[in-house]
Amino acid sequence: MKVLLTHIKELLQIRDIHTFKVSGTQMKELPTLRNAWLLIENDHIADFGTMDTVPKISVEKNIDCSDKLVLPSWCDSHTHLVYAGNREQEFVDRINGHTYQQIAENGGGILNSARKLQGTSEEELYRQSAERLEEVIKLGTGAIEIKSGYGLTTESEMKMLRVAKKLSDNHDITIKRTFLGAHAVPSEYKNNKDGYLDLICNEMLPKISEEKLAHYIDLFCEEGYFSVEDTHRVLSEGKKYDLIPKIHVNQFNAIGGVAAGVEHYALSVDHLEVVTEADISALKNSDTMPVALPSCSYFLSIPYTPGRQLIDAGLPLALATDYNPGSTPSGNMNFVISTACIKMKLTPEEAINAATINGAYAMGISNTHGSITKGKKANLIITKPVPSYGYLPYAFGSNLIDQIILNGKPI
Ligand code: NIG
Ligand code: FE
Repeated sequence: MKVLLTHIKELLQIRDIHTFKVSGTQMKELPTLRNAWLLIENDHIADFGTMDTVPKISVEKNIDCSDKLVLPSWCDSHTHLVYAGNREQEFVDRINGHTYQQIAENGGGILNSARKLQGTSEEELYRQSAERLEEVIKLGTGAIEIKSGYGLTTESEMKMLRVAKKLSDNHDITIKRTFLGAHAVPSEYKNNKDGYLDLICNEMLPKISEEKLAHYIDLFCEEGYFSVEDTHRVLSEGKKYDLIPKIHVNQFNAIGGVAAGVEHYALSVDHLEVVTEADISALKNSDTMPVALPSCSYFLSIPYTPGRQLIDAGLPLALATDYNPGSTPSGNMNFVISTACIKMKLTPEEAINAATINGAYAMGISNTHGSITKGKKANLIITKPVPSYGYLPYAFGSNLIDQIILNGKPI
């Protein structure tokens, strides 16, 4: 099937096939074409150019994009979208003065979500998760990573990953799955963290690998959760099953998780609300993508990742939602981009780069996603009529999406 988009006011994020990520000052550039056309053939971008060269061919569908922008879909490289129920009571508790850490210490937090998930059937978990996925697709997300980590038993971790797999079987969006068994120490192992790590290494990892349920491995490296030593153990074990790390680090404390991630060739290190000079040095000369999650900072009222500092140090940066029931009950990448501009002082160009090509890199898919490039997947956002691309982060809270194209199909 051929679909031709014509009279595009501005076609954003045009890259050659060799650009896998952009770093430092490169992030200030967003290559575009004005008054453009783009041809989709089946599921990929076949060609594009300016209107003076529009092909005179017959196509199944022609979409007039006058006054509208066209850009690659958002690449959300960090979510926990598969979960059961919600935690709005903890939200109210925080309004009343309890901290996120205090709530977790009293059996709330991740353990609260784990209890809910363990008592939810796979069918019901799928139903709730599909509803969330369909919502974020409408918000412009065309590729997404989904983690386990609310199961905390072999059976429930596998249930989460099976649900994530079924979501990709039944939807056009690209999904990458990450095993996050080391998200928290379950209550049954309260004084026996090493026993839980044994379970992860000796039972969960072999079974998950046998069913090919995960592409990546994650762990929450943080005081009160998992140490740097635990990080080395879990990531080394994951490597035996070819699971590349993408890890939670530096959300509340910098304890050396960034350097540990880099040492294990992590594809990404995510959160980074607290960053030290040593973390920046570790990231320089590495292939690891730092990932900021500004809607988590917004929701928990914790510091924002110093994205400006990271980019000014010459590093790349990706933006993701962290969609989860505890720290970020939102999968809206448009809000993430606005918040990165407003609170982290990223320019619109930097934020769009961070949410497309660099987000794709942080999922290991920037050879097929994250830019307007011949041969890449036709996952596109067509905006409503807007004055310029700076208007996208500026008009925060407005829905500026007119139409979504996923796998070449208009949704
Ligand atoms: O990325 N920080 C660790 N995990 C999740 C939130 C966990 C929760 O509160 O449910 C995060 O913020
Ligand atoms: Fe997270």
